[in-house]
Amino acid sequence: MISGDSPIGTPPERPALLPTVIRTSPTRLAVRLFSTTFGGAPMIGASAPGRVNLLGEHTDYNGGPVLPLALQRRTTVVASPSPEWSFISASGGLEHRDIEQPMTRSWSDYLVGVVRELAARGAAPAGARVAVASSVPIGAGLSSSAAITVAAAKALSTLAGRRLPPADLADVAYRAEHDQVGVLCGRMDQTVAAHARVGTALLFETATGSLHMVPFGETLWIVETGVSHQLTGGELNARRRECEEALDRCRERWPALRDLAALPPADLPAAERHLPPPLARRVRHIVTETARTHAAAAALAARDLGTLGLLLVEGHHSLRRDFESSCVEADVVVESAVRHGAYGARLTGAGWGGAVLVLAPAIRSGRILAEVATDFAAKFGRGPAIWSTRAGGAVRRESLDR
Ligand code: GLA
Repeated sequence: MISGDSPIGTPPERPALLPTVIRTSPTRLAVRLFSTTFGGAPMIGASAPGRVNLLGEHTDYNGGPVLPLALQRRTTVVASPSPEWSFISASGGLEHRDIEQPMTRSWSDYLVGVVRELAARGAAPAGARVAVASSVPIGAGLSSSAAITVAAAKALSTLAGRRLPPADLADVAYRAEHDQVGVLCGRMDQTVAAHARVGTALLFETATGSLHMVPFGETLWIVETGVSHQLTGGELNARRRECEEALDRCRERWPALRDLAALPPADLPAAERHLPPPLARRVRHIVTETARTHAAAAALAARDLGTLGLLLVEGHHSLRRDFESSCVEADVVVESAVRHGAYGARLTGAGWGGAVLVLAPAIRSGRILAEVATDFAAKFGRGPAIWSTRAGGAVRRESLDR
């Protein structure tokens, strides 16, 4: 998602340079928020993860591959039936909504979108009291919006007595965000939140819908730039439109071209000559990123972290130069991490702020990340939040009796 520009909870304190210790689980926070707001205990709960994308940025709405994994950080949605709809989150506040009424550009639009999409499938309850808590940072390119929409799809469909398979949960969440809220996202975030498996990355071919699990046992470091993005109505929508225009123009020359990602690399020079400069750069990113993502999945399968690291850095430069979705804070983190000995680093998620992922040799990672924090503070006068994750699991029911 959005990766998330809706305030759905306050992330717990993150001590820099230490693997994150989340003292209170989002599920406990959500249950507590529910009972202090509505009284009593919620009937059911479900949680879903945020995601970090290893490679394959902006390819998901261009028919290309993506290679994300689920974070260990999650969002929990708890609920009980009610005649009306009420939503509470730690930082978003309490909102009573009529789901027939227009969207309000509030955090609870994501939930209203999920309810509408479930209702269209006959899988929504008549109403509910809903509380949300999360340890996924908001607006950091880590897909807090897919975490909330996939968790809500699971929790609310369960409340309606339905058991939707992961593909349906992902589809409901995607339509809630894309069709209802109006973020012109692809399907990567919802797909990984619904299908992820612990200890694996997911190679998702968006043109065919095929999913391949690729073992990923490493620790990844996440460096938050502290520059927050707003995706609704912002740059992501603008880039998507540019890609659509580029595809139309490419089809003047290659009428059967299915998506930008299907353009063979050998045809890239001709495409670049055919397109005006900004569109030529966007297409160059999509075509080279498609090749990099396949190469990264192969490197990962071969446990070749050195090659994977080089591909991450190439991917970052492509975002900076060709897709123009980076920011100076992310560029500084990538340069510093590589200079101090990381295998590689890259802005992850939609961009224009957000977070950088760093892949570093385990034995030196503490020192490397400390150097990154020092370089960042010297340049920007503040420390970035830094934490680590491994590949986490998909959406699941949460047991509430604790
Ligand atoms: C956002 C969108 C995704 C994807 C990424 C960029 O996270 O929600 O679908 O397009 O940006 O790779």
